[in-house]
Amino acid sequence: MQIKTANFIISNTEVSKCPNELLPEYAFIGRSNVGKSSLINMLTERKSLAKTSGRPGKTQLINHFKINENWFLVDLPGYGYARVSKKDKKTFQKYITDYFTQREQLVCAFVLVDIRHSPQKIDMEFMEWLGENQVPFCIIFTKADKLKPGAIERNVNAYLNEMENGLWEEAPSYFITSSSKNMGREELLTYIDGINTD
Ligand code: GTP
Ligand code: MG
Repeated sequence: MQIKTANFIISNTEVSKCPNELLPEYAFIGRSNVGKSSLINMLTERKSLAKTSGRPGKTQLINHFKINENWFLVDLPGYGYARVSKKDKKTFQKYITDYFTQREQLVCAFVLVDIRHSPQKIDMEFMEWLGENQVPFCIIFTKADKLKPGAIERNVNAYLNEMENGLWEEAPSYFITSSSKNMGREELLTYIDGINTD
């Protein structure tokens, strides 16, 4: 799929204020700093469409980006970041969980995990929560440029094994990406295109 247009539409914390057009949408979620916003920029080939930062906690709102005038990419705040106020410290902020349970346009959640790390409890819990709420999701491994191919394969297999040994009958679809090396771009866009044109 070619990205002809990619436009920021709106940021907010209320699901009811998200765009009301009935267009398919895909949301990026995962721990703070895992690379959600960078991946949106990589996919759209727009350097600073979504704001990124080396410091965790950059994205704080639900951000809608309209792609090719007929679908949305959604950038969300990260979870699991400790430097938030006590009031916000619930593991998954309510407006995030509301987004996933109420947003009818959501086609697929992409759960981003850093390929360098072993499975983290908070990611497993979030995926369990998605499963319980019947939200379809895929895993996106990020920052693959930081590892050699052998280590990528080892870590991905360890991750999928851990999921299959847990409560999942089979591991979900997954993608291996690097925003700095443009890796996984075609695969992800082809996947989204396949769903959109179904
Ligand atoms: P929050 O909005 O804070 O939740 O973070 P985020 O998940 O949106 O992460 P963001 O895209 O802002 O990236 C965090 C940091 O990781 C930045 O310093 C990025 O440059 C870096 N980063 C993101 N993707 C990659 C990647 O594929 N490879 C490498 N090497 N660094 C990356
Ligand atoms: Mg971000």
